[in-house]
Amino acid sequence: MSKWLEGRVIENRHWTDSLFSLRVEAPRLAFQAGQFVRIALEESLARPFSFVNPPHDPLLEFYGIVVPEGPLSPRLAQLRAGERLLVASNPAGFLILPEVPPAQTLWLVSTGTGIAPFLSIVRTPEPWQRFANVVLVHAVRHARELVYQDTIGRIAKAHALRYVTFVSREAAPGSLSGRIPAAIRDGRLEKAAGVALDAQTSHVMLCGNPDMLKDAQGALAERGLRKHRRRNPGHVTVESFW
Ligand SMILES: Cc1cc2nc3c(=O)[nH]c(=O)nc-3n(C[C@H](O)[C@H](O)[C@H](O)COP(=O)(O)OP(=O)(O)OC[C@H]3O[C@@H](n4cnc5c(N)ncnc54)[C@H](O)[C@@H]3O)c2cc1C
Ligand SMILES: NC(=O)c1ccc[n+]([C@@H]2O[C@H](COP(=O)([O-])OP(=O)(O)OC[C@H]3O[C@@H](n4cnc5c(N)ncnc54)[C@H](OP(=O)(O)O)[C@@H]3O)[C@@H](O)[C@H]2O)c1
Repeated sequence: MSKWLEGRVIENRHWTDSLFSLRVEAPRLAFQAGQFVRIALEESLARPFSFVNPPHDPLLEFYGIVVPEGPLSPRLAQLRAGERLLVASNPAGFLILPEVPPAQTLWLVSTGTGIAPFLSIVRTPEPWQRFANVVLVHAVRHARELVYQDTIGRIAKAHALRYVTFVSREAAPGSLSGRIPAAIRDGRLEKAAGVALDAQTSHVMLCGNPDMLKDAQGALAERGLRKHRRRNPGHVTVESFW
């Protein structure tokens, strides 16, 4: 059974009308980069959110979208500094690097808020110690949803991060158009990243929209990359947000 820890909102940053990031002061919580934890305003209505902050950061951070008909996310978006947020005491999840077998290239592939766990992972030393190449892929509907540019810019300065973006519902210079699975199939993704995407060199972590996870796994399977399991090692690790 999890306990509930009482956190306090330090900041609620609004990137757009529907995208927000909560920074929260809470009792120290042990977790691994890539994991999630349930958060709530009252215990009866909790939802899992991925940590955006790396484990060593004393403030917790969560990145969310308002699902207008959803019961919790519109209320989270309205939280103000000083207000209470409950955080469960038992982080969980297998979208973590200790679960990933050795590879040359680590692909962190996300849609929408699915970038959250990868922002935590790339701010730990492990990916830079273990992989020759790290590619962060973020697909959004509109260019204004390409959030955390400062953070990503800082990481790219410190390490050889390859950052590839997709904007699907408007023309956006510097971003690929269309969807991730099509760009895996026609080679645009590996061309934009400048590294090969194949079973010999790559491990792919996928996070976000479940339809993307399914379609991307289909495209990856055509290149010989199959789902990773502890007992049957493969090349693809996934986490679905809904
Ligand atoms: C392991 C895990 C980690 C998660 N991490 C995050 C996170 O870091 N940030 C985050 O915003 N959400 C995350 N989610 C989703 C989150 O738990 C909630 O579902 C979301 O905040 C909406 O809550 P709600 O109560 O308003 O609506 P819900 O009743 O929970 O969801 C209603 C519908 O909204 C849509 N939806 C839910 N989440 C999203 C989303 N993230 N992006 C787009 N559409 C969505 C789906 O169609 C879903 O059926 C995660 C979910 C899981 C399972
Ligand atoms: N983003 C907004 O403007 C906005 C505003 C208000 C509320 N919301 C809420 O947020 C929810 C959607 O979240 P989101 O904006 O993160 O959208 P999303 O639908 O998950 O889209 C994010 C990215 O994933 C792509 N995608 C969707 N299905 C895919 C698939 N099968 N394969 C590969 N890529 C796929 C989208 O491409 P396509 O564009 O081609 O689908 C888009 O580039 C909505 O249900 C709504 O409740 C969103």
